[in-house]
Amino acid sequence: MAILDKHKILETNATLLLIFSFLVVTVGGIVQIAPLFWLENTIEEVEGMRPYTPLEMAGRNIYIREGCYVCHSQMIRPMRDEVERYGHYSLAAESMYDHPFQWGSKRTGPDLARVGGRYSGEWHVDHLRDPQSVVPESVMPKYGFLLNKEIDGRYIQDVLKTNSMVGVPYSDEMLENAQADFIAQADPDSDYDGLLERYGEDSVTVRNFDGQPEITEMDAMIAYLQMLGTLVDFSTFTPDASR
Ligand code: HEC
Repeated sequence: MAILDKHKILETNATLLLIFSFLVVTVGGIVQIAPLFWLENTIEEVEGMRPYTPLEMAGRNIYIREGCYVCHSQMIRPMRDEVERYGHYSLAAESMYDHPFQWGSKRTGPDLARVGGRYSGEWHVDHLRDPQSVVPESVMPKYGFLLNKEIDGRYIQDVLKTNSMVGVPYSDEMLENAQADFIAQADPDSDYDGLLERYGEDSVTVRNFDGQPEITEMDAMIAYLQMLGTLVDFSTFTPDASR
């Protein structure tokens, strides 16, 4: 085996081995990295995606603060059992405005990528306050304290600004009206036309999410949970095979 004999030259000469190892790694690196420079965007854009409203964003931050991701993923894998249980598999575009994404690596509870609209707001209040009251065998902790924590969105503009710094396309108008939009979404008696105009009439729910007169962390949390996975219309979605 002539070629194996020659390999001995490499194996017994440290300098030569280093040079050739470097060459191999370089070629491998180029093959993996170079195509990315010619792909304008590896995320297929999908109709319906929009940045989070200020109230949803606040809910998302509470979700992260409370560590809900420790037990819940937000990514449906393209496998039959998952798709039958949770719905259409997750698209990359569906988390393109997530900083950080919530894909998760462990499921003690179910995936939440499409939980939006599956239950009523009242169910969520009951479930978050006392999960065992609706699912007796649940091991999920109680989050009733969210009902007592009033919030007024005074910092939400900064949160949106920070997100726009990393590429979320919040317009100047969205940023200017952040706190007003925050309050409007939790109050069906308010003037929420501006909010709908900015974020989309069909995809924003205006409600008193927790049923209490004050705006609380529970309102924000439920606003967030109820929109998860609802932005893309999968009855009309077709994957773009040219990408
Ligand atoms: C210790 C693990 C754990 C943590 C932490 C946890 N959950 Fe759960 N969650 C579960 C389990 C288990 C279930 C399934 C039983 C049930 O419905 O209570 C569940 C169910 C749910 C459901 C219903 C999903 C469905 O499709 O039926 C929602 C919504 C939910 N959790 C939201 C949250 C939110 C929001 C947080 C953070 C505030 C959270 N969970 C934190 C374990 C957890």
